[in-house]
Amino acid sequence: NNYALIMAGGVGSRFWPVSRTEFPKQFIDFFGVGKTLIQSTYDRFLQICPPENIFIVTNDIYVDLIKEQIPSIGNNQILAEPIMRNTAPCIAYGSMKIAELNPDAVIVVAPSDHTIADQQGFIKAIEQSMAAAADNNCLITLGIKPNRPDTGYGYIQYNQELLPTDQEIHKVKTFTEKPNLELAQSFVQSGDFLWNAGIFIWSAKSINKSFEKHLPDMHEIFNQGKNFYNSQNEVQFIANAYLQCTNISIDFGIMEKAENVYVLPSDFGWSDLGTWASIYEMAEKDYVGNAVIPSEQVMMFDSSNCMVNVPSEKLVILQSLHNYIVVESNNTLLICPRSEEQNVKHIVADVKAKF
Ligand code: GDD
Ligand code: MG
Repeated sequence: NNYALIMAGGVGSRFWPVSRTEFPKQFIDFFGVGKTLIQSTYDRFLQICPPENIFIVTNDIYVDLIKEQIPSIGNNQILAEPIMRNTAPCIAYGSMKIAELNPDAVIVVAPSDHTIADQQGFIKAIEQSMAAAADNNCLITLGIKPNRPDTGYGYIQYNQELLPTDQEIHKVKTFTEKPNLELAQSFVQSGDFLWNAGIFIWSAKSINKSFEKHLPDMHEIFNQGKNFYNSQNEVQFIANAYLQCTNISIDFGIMEKAENVYVLPSDFGWSDLGTWASIYEMAEKDYVGNAVIPSEQVMMFDSSNCMVNVPSEKLVILQSLHNYIVVESNNTLLICPRSEEQNVKHIVADVKAKF
């Protein structure tokens, strides 16, 4: 009864120019390992569910990219969204469609753009949570020990109370999605909080009940599709359904409000890869701290602590460059001090306006 629902509809603008609206970060091989982030995600779930139980929800415009990168996936396993409405509709759609195939399904919902260093640890945590979710009406999330007051994450505070069937899965006391900096600082200082990894485990029944309770309009919209899922009429139904959906994430829409949320504190080398700094941190570096991906065409002289990602054919030569990002994609070359990477977001708007 194990199913996976991979969310792959985000646009990832912070990695511009490598990640763009037409080519977001989940479709990129950031580490030069021969696999893009979504391919690695898919391969991880192959070890947990049968291949026909892995579904990917994405925007219409990325369907061809998915077929190209995961050629073995069936057409009925790619859920195409006509418009972006954030993660709540994407999960409502996926869960109801899967419930029609198997009412006893247990689903792991996961982002497509994270890296996991310890594959075995990850698989163990997911299998443990899936077993627990099969027996209990609960929403389980994985919690990661925070190391900085990042305001881009959800924060979880948990009780000593445990799930009756699992001695490691704790009842969640509070779930705070993307707090302001002050709040995030106090959460991290208290030592009581975990980051929400954005990976959720629940039965189709439990999540559908939660939609009914906390996002009843959205539940109603997707519930009307019962007879259309997994049939020829699905696309037409979904086109109309999305027009009626509000834009809201699962975190704000359900996780902050539900009372039956549980967390499995986890440690499997999770990284959200939100920035070049996080890619640099995870990447292999030479003895002077240069991370160069791929490395064949790059020559560096007296240069250190640079993050170079230039996948094109051209020869790249760096002389006396320290602490820089040098990235190229789509005929655009970006050279920027690593310390100023946050400004890339602002540059993008200006560049887009001009080109
Ligand atoms: N199909 C689809 N449609 N996928 C989407 C959509 C959408 O409209 N919007 C986002 N996604 C995908 C993204 O591609 C990503 O894989 C995943 O859903 C999560 O969305 P993000 O936009 O990256 O969320 P976030 O990083 O701001 O926050 C979430 O993840 C954090 C951990 O990385 C939350 O769950 C936080 O609580 C959590 O800490
Ligand atoms: Mg994210």
